[in-house]
Amino acid sequence: MPKTILITGASSGIGRATARLFAEKGWNVAATMRSPEEETELKELKNLKLYRLDVTKKEHLQNIISQVEDDFTSIEVLFNNAGYGAVGAFEKSSEEDVLNQFRVNLFGIMDLTREFIPYFRKKGEGVIINTSSVVGRFTIPLYSLYCSSKWALEGFTEALQYELRQFNIKVKMIEPAAIKTEFHGRSLKVFEDDSVKGYEKMEKNILSGMKKRNEKAPGPEVVAETVLKAATDSNQKLRYPTGKGAGAVLLARKILPTSWFNKMVFKQQNR
Ligand SMILES: NC(=O)c1ccc[n+]([C@@H]2O[C@H](COP(=O)([O-])OP(=O)(O)OC[C@H]3O[C@@H](n4cnc5c(N)ncnc54)[C@H](OP(=O)(O)O)[C@@H]3O)[C@@H](O)[C@H]2O)c1
Repeated sequence: MPKTILITGASSGIGRATARLFAEKGWNVAATMRSPEEETELKELKNLKLYRLDVTKKEHLQNIISQVEDDFTSIEVLFNNAGYGAVGAFEKSSEEDVLNQFRVNLFGIMDLTREFIPYFRKKGEGVIINTSSVVGRFTIPLYSLYCSSKWALEGFTEALQYELRQFNIKVKMIEPAAIKTEFHGRSLKVFEDDSVKGYEKMEKNILSGMKKRNEKAPGPEVVAETVLKAATDSNQKLRYPTGKGAGAVLLARKILPTSWFNKMVFKQQNR
């Protein structure tokens, strides 16, 4: 009997590549997205079905398990992938920018996870995989909202794995480095407040530098392979760094004194 994975944000990038890979490997795939009516390619895959799910809409989250069960009988893996970057100088951001960033990158994950815990407990097993980032463990300038949402997600995920271990529910985290997706394209929300001055040089260097780095980065297929590993690992491993340089930068973060590491980030970001 094939297992089923539910993926959020399957319309593009990492979510989409993961949906394809799992379908190729014979899994049932519940590919959820905000606008399934616009999807044409994925729905051609035989063991994949599309569902409408905006992670900020409670009414979508509350009905999703029963909808997927009607089609695939059960769900074994939840992949919380949907997310976006709200970036720019914090001084330019609004309260709404902050709330939206946390609604999608953290609260949506918490709300969907809360739906899944009793479901997995009843089944006696389950895997929850959350999408963090390498910047869930260090920070970069102009990414204060994004980094803080991923740091919060790291804290949430790490604490949750202790709670759910006793119920045979594995909790895991993917930590991608730069990956070529829509993240730095249509998904990026840059704060626009021209009345705030003084950040022009930093914005020019960092935002264009990140965009260029992302264009040269590996594609989302690399992360999809990591998700497959996390979904099928029998151990309790929590963190899965993935993408070019992810392991190295996180090792540097771990072994270097914080002041050295921060100096290195500042220098690299302001080249
Ligand atoms: N790309 C990178 O360099 C990188 C690095 C580290 C971590 N990540 C993380 O990887 C995850 C996937 O990003 P990506 O790189 O694949 O970018 P992407 O191509 O822009 O995909 C983001 C996905 O999230 C969906 N989404 C946004 N808001 C949503 C909402 N309210 N409800 C449901 N879905 C929503 C988007 O849906 P729509 O199509 O409807 O907009 C899209 O499917 C994110 O959590 C991101 O933070 C990315």
